[in-house]
Amino acid sequence: MSSGRLAGKIALVTGGASGLGAATARKFAAEGARVLLTDIDTDGAARVAADIGDAAASCRHDVTSEADWQAAVAEAEAKFGGLHILVNNAGIAPAGTVEDTSLEEWRRVHAIDLDGVFLGCKLALPLIAATTAREGSRGSILNVSSIAGIIAAANMAAYNSAKAAVRHLTKSVALHCAKERYAVTCNSIHPTFIDTPIIDKMIGDRDRAQLLAKFARQVPVGRVGEPDDVAFAALYLCSDEAKFVTGAELYIDGGIAAM
Ligand code: NAI
Repeated sequence: MSSGRLAGKIALVTGGASGLGAATARKFAAEGARVLLTDIDTDGAARVAADIGDAAASCRHDVTSEADWQAAVAEAEAKFGGLHILVNNAGIAPAGTVEDTSLEEWRRVHAIDLDGVFLGCKLALPLIAATTAREGSRGSILNVSSIAGIIAAANMAAYNSAKAAVRHLTKSVALHCAKERYAVTCNSIHPTFIDTPIIDKMIGDRDRAQLLAKFARQVPVGRVGEPDDVAFAALYLCSDEAKFVTGAELYIDGGIAAM
């Protein structure tokens, strides 16, 4: 039996090929969990899983697809025998004001950043509830929103909308689990700028170091975050240590929301 803060837990992390998903999966495995990393980037997810070792597996999974969700949840059960933890992490963050966001782009952002989280909560919850009921253990769902789900910006119309909806959906899921007496919590986290490949997708032709320095000036502690700043928070919220924490929102923002 493995030891660690997530000993015996089975986790599914979406968007596990990159950035926060990869860091979270590594952290979970280091703390004793077995982890299924899913992503549309099949090769990337397989690379991270291989690097973690026997405690990890990967599969292709588009979070906007109900059929892919069913297959990913079935894969967790087939590979590891159940599911305790879901981290709804996969996401995109394209910029755009309300005037220059096309309806197609609006729908794409909501399909990945919001519908993907809804489908995950809906389709993974039955297996998490069944696994925890069978074992007398505990489970959790963690939804990766953003500080952009709390504080808006002029040029993030679709992202602000989707991430704000994730925050509130989380509370509904938490209350549903509580009402059903599932031993399952549901919380959201709200990071500010974290140095991951998502930043590269935002950069365009701008200088990376200059952009990170500009972001850092907006953060009271004077720097952007590291993936582990988020992974440590995910570890706590998905561990049994947080069993009385549900429907909560944790800002991982270097103090931005305190202003
Ligand atoms: P990233 O771009 O490094 O990783 C995102 C992963 O999601 C990629 O591996 C990508 O292939 C995957 N993905 C995209 N669309 C998908 C789909 N339809 N189905 C399955 N996988 C898909 O980004 P990062 O930074 O790791 O972001 C992870 C989450 O954290 C996102 O939800 C993002 O909005 C959120 N976040 C990130 C912040 C940051 O500054 N890095 C700040 C606040 C929130």
